[in-house]
Amino acid sequence: MKTNTHRNKSLSIILLAVFSLLVTACNPKIAKEIRRHTYPPEFNYIPEKEFKSIMWRFAEKVKQLNEVMREANLSGDGPKREVVRILSEMEKISMDLGPEAWPGNHPKVARHITMFRSDLLAARRALDMDPPNYYLAGSIAGACSHCHRAK
Ligand code: HEC
Repeated sequence: MKTNTHRNKSLSIILLAVFSLLVTACNPKIAKEIRRHTYPPEFNYIPEKEFKSIMWRFAEKVKQLNEVMREANLSGDGPKREVVRILSEMEKISMDLGPEAWPGNHPKVARHITMFRSDLLAARRALDMDPPNYYLAGSIAGACSHCHRAK
């Protein structure tokens, strides 16, 4: 029965490992602590509070954008300049999420930030056409869905 005992022992070691992983993963405090130790300071993992504030700034910009888009008939340079300004601000805010392919990023951000930024850029470029094309600016919430759609 030697092999059986041996197998039982390995099994309990595996179970213990799985269990401690689960405990760690479910406890944000421990997870944070691990991150603090595993990420060297120069990785600058964005603190949760700051990350959320970036997201709320995005939400504010989308709201402003929709307000301008809802206004009047979008003719003339006024609304166009306003929309270009808001889109540029969103691009600037996105810089606070860190460089592309940055290992210190939230995995979702690392995966989708490039697409998000190119959507913002495309929306801004479309306004330089004659006549300006507002379609992409008007559907900018679609760019958020790179990260916010279910997976
Ligand atoms: C590159 C990825 C990414 C993009 C693009 C993105 N988000 Fe987020 N956002 C996240 C992640 C990650 C969270 C954290 C919750 C989660 O996992 O969904 C989040 C959370 C949020 C929250 C909740 C913040 C809180 O206090 O909990 C808001 C609001 C938000 N995003 C708005 C937006 C808006 C508006 C846009 C588009 C202009 C946007 N996001 C684009 C990744 C992204």
